[in-house]
Amino acid sequence: MPGEFQEGQGIVSSIQEEVAEVRRSLGDDLPARALFERYRPERGWFLRPDSAEDIHGIDHEARVLIWQELLARLLIKDGAALDQEALRWAAATHDTQRVSDGIDFPHGQRAAAWVERHLLHRIPVGSLDTVLYLNTWHVPLDDQAPEMTPELAVFKDADALDRVRIDDFNARYLRCRYSHTLLQYLAQELFDRSEAKRWGEGYAAFDCVCVAAVEMGLIHPD
Ligand SMILES: [Fe+2]
Ligand SMILES: [Fe+2]
Repeated sequence: MPGEFQEGQGIVSSIQEEVAEVRRSLGDDLPARALFERYRPERGWFLRPDSAEDIHGIDHEARVLIWQELLARLLIKDGAALDQEALRWAAATHDTQRVSDGIDFPHGQRAAAWVERHLLHRIPVGSLDTVLYLNTWHVPLDDQAPEMTPELAVFKDADALDRVRIDDFNARYLRCRYSHTLLQYLAQELFDRSEAKRWGEGYAAFDCVCVAAVEMGLIHPD
């Protein structure tokens, strides 16, 4: 079984196998690092700019950006129709309007309102409503959202995968097939590597994630 590591078995080689499976599945459709630059969150977007380095900060938004991109592309290969622009903008903004890093139920609604005030010039008109929906409904439990749209399922999985950063990841809550079969086994590695890049090699919050994802082979370097 993927990711079920026996004691003494090389974890690195298992991760390499998972990455190889992602790459095999996506073929030529592996995302390039340059794509993500358009969605780089700015420190000034955060309600508390000092929190841009914290657990809901820029590097978390960046990892959610990577996970939603891979998951969406895998599902699209299988025939799903997804608004990728909306998913990317939600990844970049969904946790920017927190008043604290603890329980802050309205932060999704605040993020939606902030997008409407500040990012209308950057988000395609046809994707705006979906960005607002994703930001608003990424917080409550699944059955509290008006509808579990395909984008919301992808987005909540991408956000959930990065719960490894607070040691609170639970695969039971994942909604999409590829989150279960592939991506959950890579989440800890992307987090660990991005932390090492950030604190060990001095990369900025967004760049540490992109460099780590390139190093793992999850995105193209250019
Ligand atoms: Fe959130
Ligand atoms: Fe989040």
